[in-house]
Amino acid sequence: MAKMEVKTSLLDNMIGVGDMVLLEPLDEDSFINNLKKRYDHNEVYTYIGSVVISINPYRSLPIYTPEKVEEYRNRNFYELSPHIFALSDEAYRSLRDQDKDQCILITGESGAGKTEASKLVMSYVAAVCGKGAEVNQVKEQLLQSNPVLEAFGNAKTVRNDNSSRFGKYMDIEFDFKGDPLGGVISNYLLEKSRVVKQPRGERNFHIFYQILSGASEDFLCKLKLERDFSRYNYLGLDSAKVNGVDDAANFRTVRNAMQIVGFMDHETQSVFEVVAAVLKLGNIEFKPESRVNGLDESKIKDKNELKEICELTGIDQSVLERAFSFRTVEAKQEKVSTTLNVAQAYYARDALAKNLYSRLFSWLVTRINESIKAQTKVRKKVMGVLDIYGFEIFEDNSFEQFIINYCNEKLQQIFIELTLKEEQEEYIREGIEWTHIEYFNNAIICDLIENNQTGILAMLDEECLRPGTVTDDTFLEKLNQVCATHQHFESRMSKCSRFLNDTTLPHSCFRIQHYAGKVMYQVEGFVDKNNDLLYRDLSQAMWKASHSLIKALFPEGNPAKINLKRPPTAGSQFKASVATLMKNLQTKNPNYIRCIKPNDKKAAHIFNDALVCHQIRYLGLLENVRVRRAGYAFRQMYEPCLERYKMLCKQTWPHWRGPARAGVEVLFNELEIPEEEFSFGRSKIFIRNPRTLFKLEDLRKQRLEDLATLIEKIYRGWKCRTRFLLMKKSQIVIASWYRRYAQQKKYQKIKSSAIIVQSYIRGWKARKLLRELKHQKRCNEAATIIAAYWHGTQARRELRRLKEEARNKHAIAVIWAYWLGYKVRREYRKFFRANAGRKIYEFTLQRLMQKYFLEMKNKMPSLSPIDKNWPARPYLFLDSTHKELKRIFHLWRCKKYRDQFTDQQKLIYEEKLEASELFKDKKALYPASVGQPFQGAYLEISKNPKYKKLKDAVDEKIIIAEVVNKINRANGKATSRIFLLTKNNVLLADQKSGNIKSEVPLGDVAKVSMSSQNDGFFAVHLKEGSGAAGKGDFLLSSDHLIEMATKLYRTTLSQTKQKLNIEISDEFLVQFRQDKVCVKFIQGSQKNGNIPTCKRKNNRLLEVAVP
Ligand SMILES: Nc1ncnc2c1ncn2[C@@H]1O[C@H](COP(=O)(O)OP(=O)(O)OP(=O)(O)O)[C@@H](O)[C@H]1O
Ligand SMILES: [Mg+2]
Repeated sequence: MAKMEVKTSLLDNMIGVGDMVLLEPLDEDSFINNLKKRYDHNEVYTYIGSVVISINPYRSLPIYTPEKVEEYRNRNFYELSPHIFALSDEAYRSLRDQDKDQCILITGESGAGKTEASKLVMSYVAAVCGKGAEVNQVKEQLLQSNPVLEAFGNAKTVRNDNSSRFGKYMDIEFDFKGDPLGGVISNYLLEKSRVVKQPRGERNFHIFYQILSGASEDFLCKLKLERDFSRYNYLGLDSAKVNGVDDAANFRTVRNAMQIVGFMDHETQSVFEVVAAVLKLGNIEFKPESRVNGLDESKIKDKNELKEICELTGIDQSVLERAFSFRTVEAKQEKVSTTLNVAQAYYARDALAKNLYSRLFSWLVTRINESIKAQTKVRKKVMGVLDIYGFEIFEDNSFEQFIINYCNEKLQQIFIELTLKEEQEEYIREGIEWTHIEYFNNAIICDLIENNQTGILAMLDEECLRPGTVTDDTFLEKLNQVCATHQHFESRMSKCSRFLNDTTLPHSCFRIQHYAGKVMYQVEGFVDKNNDLLYRDLSQAMWKASHSLIKALFPEGNPAKINLKRPPTAGSQFKASVATLMKNLQTKNPNYIRCIKPNDKKAAHIFNDALVCHQIRYLGLLENVRVRRAGYAFRQMYEPCLERYKMLCKQTWPHWRGPARAGVEVLFNELEIPEEEFSFGRSKIFIRNPRTLFKLEDLRKQRLEDLATLIEKIYRGWKCRTRFLLMKKSQIVIASWYRRYAQQKKYQKIKSSAIIVQSYIRGWKARKLLRELKHQKRCNEAATIIAAYWHGTQARRELRRLKEEARNKHAIAVIWAYWLGYKVRREYRKFFRANAGRKIYEFTLQRLMQKYFLEMKNKMPSLSPIDKNWPARPYLFLDSTHKELKRIFHLWRCKKYRDQFTDQQKLIYEEKLEASELFKDKKALYPASVGQPFQGAYLEISKNPKYKKLKDAVDEKIIIAEVVNKINRANGKATSRIFLLTKNNVLLADQKSGNIKSEVPLGDVAKVSMSSQNDGFFAVHLKEGSGAAGKGDFLLSSDHLIEMATKLYRTTLSQTKQKLNIEISDEFLVQFRQDKVCVKFIQGSQKNGNIPTCKRKNNRLLEVAVP
């Protein structure tokens, strides 16, 4: 089913009519009655087309909640009941989506609810536009600028407890997404006369009361203020307290708002100091003092207040005091000082207070603008909200009211212009014929005020600038001359006799017929207020203040920047700024909120018909409706129109496939609506008479009911059918499931029965088979048993026979044995006694020996030849056997040990054995040599290239090659020589060069001598007469003496078959050439360590000291 979209309309549940354009009949009474009816039902908003009429409810209504905001968000203007949110939403969306700058113009009398409306618009826009920390801060700052400006710029008047005493236009700036970027506030002419004087029943600006009620004692003390209102001349006393207003709480709100907007603490402090100074200025009083020359002078009565002001503002007291007493006029480099009389002094004081306050207010606006200004330079879309002081008529109306009303006059004009223009443009745009409608155009009043030559403001300026005496009366006179003939100007003094007898018009007044009624202005004060004069002495005194804010407020007080030109008048300034504002507004798309005040009592639930009627008249609302309806009362885009009424025609219901316009045409033809009642625009249908619309609405309502019934009927039918179909489907499903279940059960039963029958048959068959098998088996077993029994019988029989046989054989053997035994015993008994003793001894001995050897076998020592262990002897009679056994065992194991030797080892042991035989117990050096293996070639001649020659000279196998010391016969000193022993020779060669020094065949060696001591000296004696003997014997010393001597001995033996004589003696003779020298070995000291020293004692003695 297609989704049904719920569309609502302004026309739903309407009280009265929500849009005055639909009012029928249209006249003043029905207009007011409609407003009243709606007002009584808390419907404070009513439309005239796109204009919103707002009636002040004077009480809080629950129609501004966040839920309401959500309700109106993104909805079409006419979709919901009239509301200020609908207008705000429309404006915001066309700003965001259609890129059209907007302005919201809020007009109405003082107290009609303009300021509240402007706040509602701002809060709605803030609620629906973008979100995020930065955006929220911007929003918050924009919203919080309101309480600050209201505190300083609003006051209680007889018409409104919170009356705006300044005009405010605020541009809120958005980026392309519709997120707020910042804002700019413009302010228009603060009603500053209120600072020094308030009409009866009114108050000064809120901030003064707020400080005194809300500031802490400390803070008041700092500002040198007292809490008592009555202490201050500037505060009107008769209505210092306002019902329902908590000044103290508001003060806290203001301070908080200032903080949020971005005021620094010191700035806030300065602002309050200026406010305090203004308040205290009012307490300065003057008394007259006459001078001798007759000039009037004034004097400050009580200087205490002045002193405190000076302390607060940092102005030199004498400077301020002088500024209150003198006035200096500068003209063409001439300075003239005149004294001020009391009245002038008061005038000066008040002028200072007003200026100080109004400049402070302007500074506040500038400061707020600084905080809220957009930070980026991207293109901005702007929504301007204008909340200006409302049209006012007081008992005494002065320059301020004149200005305020002028401003309202201009706004009314722009309303007239733009509304009509817009309307006219729409008809042209849509191609509809347009007939002009008469309405009152207030351009003529605007002209009366602002005309550059004959306008009242121009007159006033002319009068102010004119030389000579200028008073308010001369100004009035001038007005009377120039404006007398103007339709909207009234004056007693004018030449025009119309008002000569009008006693309601005093001589000092003039009256203007404003669009909103006649207002009588007191001419008194017009010139002064327009001049807005502040004596230069005072501005210079202010500039001298050390208070930085005050100094900044009076830049013209700087003597360096004296400007003799007159500043522009208040009137011309205001006119210029209003003109700028109007220009600005004309560039934007206007949205109107027209505020209406229901009563003068500021009370809820009271609807004063006359008062409302007056406002309706001057606001031209009825004309507004007429203009709106002159062409057509109602217009709507084709699509929503078709959507709303398509159910009234069969062709368009439920869907129209073609273009919307064609659909509407078909629809209207079908409904037989007279042709003159409607017209087709390009995009909209225009309905001339509201009746037609209501007829359409009634038909729609009726049709909706029918449709509801139809829908209900179809729905019920659909519901029943669906239910039936569902049940049918369910039934089939259930039945099929049941059948399946039943079949399943049946099948299972058959299956289990079959299994049982089958198992019975199988069981019976098996048992039968078993029986047969058992029978067969039993038959087999019986045969086996029978056979076994038969075999058993046979076997037993055989066994018995064999046993019998064996028993017989055994009996024979036993009998034989017995018989033999008997024979031996008989033989043995004959010898036993003669040999028994010896036999037992031998047997015992044999037994002991056997035991000894068996034990020895287990106790044998190891096979090592050097193992000295041998078990102890067990029996004494075996002593010699035991020793012999030990010796044999030792010899045996030595043999075993020797058998393991290789030939080389055998040779080594042979040499060692030889050495032992030669030197054991003969030479003290011997024991040390036993452990050292004999290596022979200690010097590897073949590997050292130095000895190549020597190697080549000796072609035999080298047995010993070693370095020895040859002892010099002359001094006993040693020289290193290479000692070589070959198979046949002994050679001595030079150690360094390898040159052979001597070569002795072994056969020429007679003997070798050496000491018995622990030294390596030895002498090689040569046979007398041999070839080598010429040089004499050699006395040498070697580290391997034992090895050398042994090898020399063995080699000589094997070569010459003669034993070499080795003489061991501590004194022997050595033949050195011709001399025989005795070599004597003595016990020497340990001086040289273990090395023996050799010394020549005399010709015949060489002494060797052996340690
Ligand atoms: N929508 C509203 N709901 C409840 N009270 C309202 C509403 N609008 C206005 N009021 C009440 O009316 C009072 C006056 O409204 P407001 O200050 O907006 O008037 P104004 O048109 O701005 O007047 P002025 O021209 O003097 O500034 C408010 O203080 C408030 O009490
Ligand atoms: Mg206001």
